[in-house]
Amino acid sequence: MVQLKNLIVIFAFFAIVECLNNGLVRTPPMGWMSWTKFYCEIDCIKHPKGCINEDLYASQADRMAKDGYKDVGYEYIHIDDCWMSMQRDRAGRLTANATRFPHGIKWLADYVHNLGLKFAIYEDYGTKTCGGYPGSLGHLQTDANTFAQWDVDYLKLDGCYAEESEMPKGYPEMERDLNATGRPIVYACSWPAYLISEQDKVNYTEISQHCNLWRNFDDINRSWKSILSIIDWYNLFQDKMAAVHGPGQWNDPDMIIAGNSELTDDQARAQMTIWSIWSAPLIMSNDLRDITPNQKEILQNKEVIAIDQDPLGHFGKLIVNVSYPFMWIF
Ligand SMILES: *[C@@H]1O[C@H](CO)[C@@H](O)[C@H](O)[C@H]1NC(C)=O
Ligand SMILES: *[C@@H]1O[C@H](CO)[C@@H](O)[C@H](O)[C@H]1NC(C)=O
Ligand SMILES: *[C@@H]1O[C@H](CO)[C@@H](O)[C@H](O)[C@H]1NC(C)=O
Ligand SMILES: *[C@@H]1O[C@H](CO)[C@@H](O)[C@H](O)[C@H]1NC(C)=O
Ligand SMILES: *[C@@H]1O[C@H](CO)[C@@H](O)[C@H](O)[C@H]1NC(C)=O
Repeated sequence: MVQLKNLIVIFAFFAIVECLNNGLVRTPPMGWMSWTKFYCEIDCIKHPKGCINEDLYASQADRMAKDGYKDVGYEYIHIDDCWMSMQRDRAGRLTANATRFPHGIKWLADYVHNLGLKFAIYEDYGTKTCGGYPGSLGHLQTDANTFAQWDVDYLKLDGCYAEESEMPKGYPEMERDLNATGRPIVYACSWPAYLISEQDKVNYTEISQHCNLWRNFDDINRSWKSILSIIDWYNLFQDKMAAVHGPGQWNDPDMIIAGNSELTDDQARAQMTIWSIWSAPLIMSNDLRDITPNQKEILQNKEVIAIDQDPLGHFGKLIVNVSYPFMWIF
């Protein structure tokens, strides 16, 4: 009888610690995302080269494949918000804005795959995306299936227009729906980023069991001030983050903005350095068609990238804070 009880207890334990086991992103993902450079610019008449349409993603993918980025490890081309039509189709499926994506998303995924790259898309767990487009609430399974049919390799699931109290149920539900498609899809959650002011409530163990990566803090923007604010915040909570950080489960301090004219070369170098010490995702948001040779070299620095991509995936912590020099350990 005692033995049987033990068996039951052990079984229950395994059932509880079931965790995201899709085998993906064993090193931090690297790629390019539109958001912090192009935001939700949908006026393609005024901004023909800088609006959210298929040409933007195809041309960034071309540059990533042909200008050396792919060779040093950059891999994913990420569509961000504002790609959708405001209405779902009759079967309740998401569709792309047909004016801006005349060939559809599957065509774009194929285009990206043919360059030897991977394809990533954006949705939101709530009723609407942050930009006001249709959210996944009530459609999680349909949307997971749609993404799999389009050969999507990576989903960023935002958390605008959602109840924070529903997230512990909803984000794991999408994890199961993605798994059920049978297609390996990296799962990036914005879940804890909606609990910034309630750090006591954030259970990183739980989040790391359901997501391959997760945003913790405010959106980055194209300024040094923004980089500094992220570094300070991350350092404040570094023990909590380091404890759950590793292969297949990454804290995401947000995009690499090196490559934008708002940063000096030293500032660009500093961001690449700190993000790599953290083993953070290196997902650029800049215009790959228009990067200075210096900043291109910074973005493609193989030694720095090797630290970021170290197979152990340790989160390097700040140990001494003096104005100069910074000192870090791993
Ligand atoms: C597609 O985007 C354009 C702006 O580029 C907008 O005027 C149009 O209403 C959108 N179409 C749909 C169906 O959402
Ligand atoms: C689904 O989950 C199972 C169990 O964790 C895992 O073995 C499998 O590889 C996953 N499949 C996909 C497509 O993610
Ligand atoms: C955090 O989540 C884990 C896994 O779900 C659970 O075992 C643990 O009890 C939770 N911790 C707190 C403080 O709620
Ligand atoms: C960028 O982020 C910083 C730090 O959070 C903030 O102070 C600043 O106002 C932001 N700039 C813009 C243009 O949003
Ligand atoms: C490090 O020191 C600077 C200057 O004193 C301060 O602004 C910053 O908040 C400190 N960062 C941490 C993580 O303690």
